Amino acid sequence: MAASGQIVPVRLSGESYSIHVRPGALADVGPRLRELTPAKTVVLIYDTNVEPLAHRANVLASLTNAGFERTIECPLAPGEEHKSIDHLAGVYDTILRHGIERSTPVLALGGGVIGDMAGFVAATVLRGVPFVQIPTTLLAMVDASVGGKTGVNHAVGKNLIGAFHQPIAVFADPETLKTLPIRELRGGLAECIKHDVIRDADGFAHLERDIGKALSLDVDYLADLVAHNVAIKARVVEADPFERGERAHLNFGHTFGHAIENVSNYDYSHGESVALGMAAAAHLAVELKMLDDASRKRIVALIEKAGLPARGLALDLDEVVNAMAFDKKVKSGKLRFVLPDRIGHVVIRDDVPVDLVRRAVEAVGSQ
Ligand SMILES: NC(=O)c1ccc[n+]([C@@H]2O[C@H](COP(=O)([O-])OP(=O)(O)OC[C@H]3O[C@@H](n4cnc5c(N)ncnc54)[C@H](O)[C@@H]3O)[C@@H](O)[C@H]2O)c1
Ligand SMILES: [Zn+2]
Repeated sequence: MAASGQIVPVRLSGESYSIHVRPGALADVGPRLRELTPAKTVVLIYDTNVEPLAHRANVLASLTNAGFERTIECPLAPGEEHKSIDHLAGVYDTILRHGIERSTPVLALGGGVIGDMAGFVAATVLRGVPFVQIPTTLLAMVDASVGGKTGVNHAVGKNLIGAFHQPIAVFADPETLKTLPIRELRGGLAECIKHDVIRDADGFAHLERDIGKALSLDVDYLADLVAHNVAIKARVVEADPFERGERAHLNFGHTFGHAIENVSNYDYSHGESVALGMAAAAHLAVELKMLDDASRKRIVALIEKAGLPARGLALDLDEVVNAMAFDKKVKSGKLRFVLPDRIGHVVIRDDVPVDLVRRAVEAVGSQ
C-alpha cells in the first residue's frame, strides 16, 4: 500500500473537498471516488495528448479495480483553440446518448483546457453533476484545478462563457509531469512564483533554493511544491469564492501579462507572459517606492532560474501599454495593479500614473 501522500482540504460554505497529492495518485482515483459516490458509471473527459501516455490507462485501471462498471470516454482535442462551445457539442451528445444520471461523476484528465471544459460540462449537463479533476500539467495542478472556475472561450475573448462549479475531489499526480514538455512545466512554475510573492516569503526562499529539483522532475519535491501551492490558492479562494475582493491578488503579474500575451499573439505563452508581467510589476512597485530593489532583484532572479523571461521583451511597448487598457481587470476606467510591498505580501493599487506603467514595460523591454 502506497503512502497516502498529502491531502489539502478546501473548505467552502456548503461544499468541501480534498486535493490528493502524491506520486502515484492516479491509482487513488477509483478507491477514493468509491467512498464519495454510489455511482457505477463515470464519464472520463480526457486530452488526446495524454491518451498514448500511461495516464489514461492508469485511471481506467484504478476505476475498474474499485468496482466502477462503465466509463463513458470523451476524447477532446488538445489546445486553447479547441476550448469552445463548438467542441463541447460532441461531448454532450456522447454522454446524453449514454443516459447518465444526476449522480454520474464527470472526470477531467488533462491540463487546464480540459479541466475548464469538462468542469463546464459537469456544471451544465442535467443542471449539474459531480465533477472530479485529475490535472496533468503543473499549471492545472497549482492553479486551474483549484477554485471552481470552469468555462470556454468565445471569439470575443477568453473564458467568457462559464460557471462556478466546485469539484468533489482533485487528484494531482506529479508522475504525470514527467511527460510534460519543459516549456509547460516552466509555465506552471510562473504561477508557483506568483503564489509565494503574494502570500509566502518562506515559500519563496525555499523555491529559490530548490527550484532546480522541480526542473529535474524530482517527483517527491514536486508533490511538496504542488501541495504548498494548492494550499495557498485554496486559502485565497476560501476567503473570496466569487472573486469580489482578495482573490484579485492572484492576478499579480497578470495585468501586464495578459497584455503581453495578446500583443504577442500568444508567441509568449501564458507562463512566459506572466513571468515578464511579474518582473514589470516588481519594477513598478520599486518606482512607486513600495518595494526595495533587492526584493525586486530576487523576484527577477527566481523567474530566470525557472527558465522564464524577465527582460528582453521583444514587442512594441506602446502596444503593450495600450492593450492593458482593454484588460478585463480594468474597473471603472482605472488600471488596477496587484503590487508587492515585500516578498509574501501584495496590495491593490488603482492610482498608478500611466508614465510609470510605461517605464515598467520599458524596464522589461531592456536587456
Ligand atoms: N479555472 C481556473 O481557475 C484557471 C486558472 C488558470 C488557467 N486556467 C485555464 O487553463 C488553461 C491552461 O492550462 P494548461 O497550461 O494546463 O494548458 P493545456 O491544458 O493546454 O495543456 C498544455 C499542453 O500540455 C499537454 N499535456 C497535458 N498534460 C500532459 C502531460 N501530462 N504530458 C504531456 N503533455 C500534456 C496538453 O495537451 C497541451 O498541449 C487555459 O485555458 C486557462 O484559461 C483556468
Ligand atoms: Zn495565470
